[in-house]
Amino acid sequence: MKKFSPNQKMVAIAVAAVCCVLSAASAIAQFAPPGPPQPPGPTQPPGPVQTPAPLPANLQGFGGALVGLSRDLIDAFNQGRIEFTNVETPASGLGPIFNGRSCAECHSSPAIGGGSNTRVTRFGRNVDGVFDAMESQGGSLLQRFAINPALQEVIPHEANVIAQRLSTPLFGLGLIEAIPDGAIVQNMLVPKPDGVRGKAAEITDVVSGQKRVGRFGLKAQQATLLAFSADAYANEMGITNRFFPKENAPNGNESLLARFKRTIDPEDEIDPATGKSDIDMAADFMRFLAPPTRVAATPQSAVGESLFGQAGCTACHTPVLRTGPNPIAALDRKAVNLFSDLLLHDMGSLNDGIALAGAGTHEMKTPPLWGLRARGPYLHDGRATSLDAAIRAHDGEGAAARDRYIGMTPQLKRNLQDFLNTL
Ligand code: HEC
Ligand code: HEC
Repeated sequence: MKKFSPNQKMVAIAVAAVCCVLSAASAIAQFAPPGPPQPPGPTQPPGPVQTPAPLPANLQGFGGALVGLSRDLIDAFNQGRIEFTNVETPASGLGPIFNGRSCAECHSSPAIGGGSNTRVTRFGRNVDGVFDAMESQGGSLLQRFAINPALQEVIPHEANVIAQRLSTPLFGLGLIEAIPDGAIVQNMLVPKPDGVRGKAAEITDVVSGQKRVGRFGLKAQQATLLAFSADAYANEMGITNRFFPKENAPNGNESLLARFKRTIDPEDEIDPATGKSDIDMAADFMRFLAPPTRVAATPQSAVGESLFGQAGCTACHTPVLRTGPNPIAALDRKAVNLFSDLLLHDMGSLNDGIALAGAGTHEMKTPPLWGLRARGPYLHDGRATSLDAAIRAHDGEGAAARDRYIGMTPQLKRNLQDFLNTL
């Protein structure tokens, strides 16, 4: 992390000095310092994450590294984990507007790298079916905290779509990253029952500049972990980086941003000693994070597993995809038991109304179901507090499978849930 090196500090001081000279000569108010640290209030997020309690027996293994990594890669995982939990401060680039101070603040349940009950808010405006992300007013992602109350973002009153998104777990994402675009598309082309279609999210990867099949995020908005890491550093924490070099202005107000901005963009820089910056280290951690493993089947869950197929759930929750050839042995041609096709589906009434990257307002990515036993509440905004409610909320392309579930006897419904709780 070059941010804290003495050299870097000297540059910052030198630039700050230039600013002061300029401000003295022209508009002092424009460069007024943000003042003493603010007391905890509505603009302050909760404190750093607590050390989690030891995991219960059925959740052990969550949060560890992939099996079969070389020593170097285990080191990269451990270094990345430190960066992932590192609590940022305004001096290290946090904000000026942000949603959290560390990745782990939202991704720590049931272990570091998991999800949490923390939700972020998206907003926009839909006029006659055309979605406007309101980028000029700071959309579509709301930053709910600020380093100074004067910068506090609000949802503009013109917004008529407001959606909550639950923080999703990151276990096994390196395997998902290693699934070739072609494998996702090939699976998409297999004919499905019940009018299930599914669409591969076409996105442009900020890292390579190439057209790729998105697979990360509720809208399959990113294809690589480095791109998602860079996106999250910039948009969740306000740490600009080489792929997202522009600081978010509060509700799009650039002059307000300029008054409070004290750091130089990009804030995240490559450390010449390691060739990596924070976004690279966090991506390493996620890439080498082990997938959830299943717990042993019971006679009941085995019945549930076959019902899962018979009801048509597997039309979207594809049990297995495979990684392609990969220089890292632990990612090379592996079965990925994710229970997702990674495709976007028109889910009818079960949507968040937000268009993002390759996804329309009614389209949601099939979420991987691995690790489901460690999750809840369910669905993109946590609206379902039980598996039963989550399945009943399926609509659109998922309606036929939902109806088959609703038609099951209470006993068979329980068997299906027993199966889901082995994942
Ligand atoms: C304020 C809470 C919050 C913070 C802080 C945060 N995230 Fe997230 N993260 C979320 C939410 C909410 C989602 C799901 C939203 C979406 O997909 O649009 C998500 C999704 C993700 C995903 C996609 C997971 C998948 O399975 O598709 C990745 C990767 C990710 N975050 C990485 C990070 C990294 C790296 C950091 C730190 C730089 C970070 N997040 C910080 C809330 C947060
Ligand atoms: C048309 C594709 C499709 C079919 C068929 C389908 N699902 Fe889903 N499933 C989705 C999508 C998309 C979501 C995410 C929706 C959201 O979050 O708003 C989802 C979410 C879920 C969740 C919640 C996961 C979480 O992390 O919160 C569960 C559980 C689930 N599905 C189980 C089932 C079961 C059981 C069936 C069969 C009865 C089924 N699904 C059929 C697409 C499908």
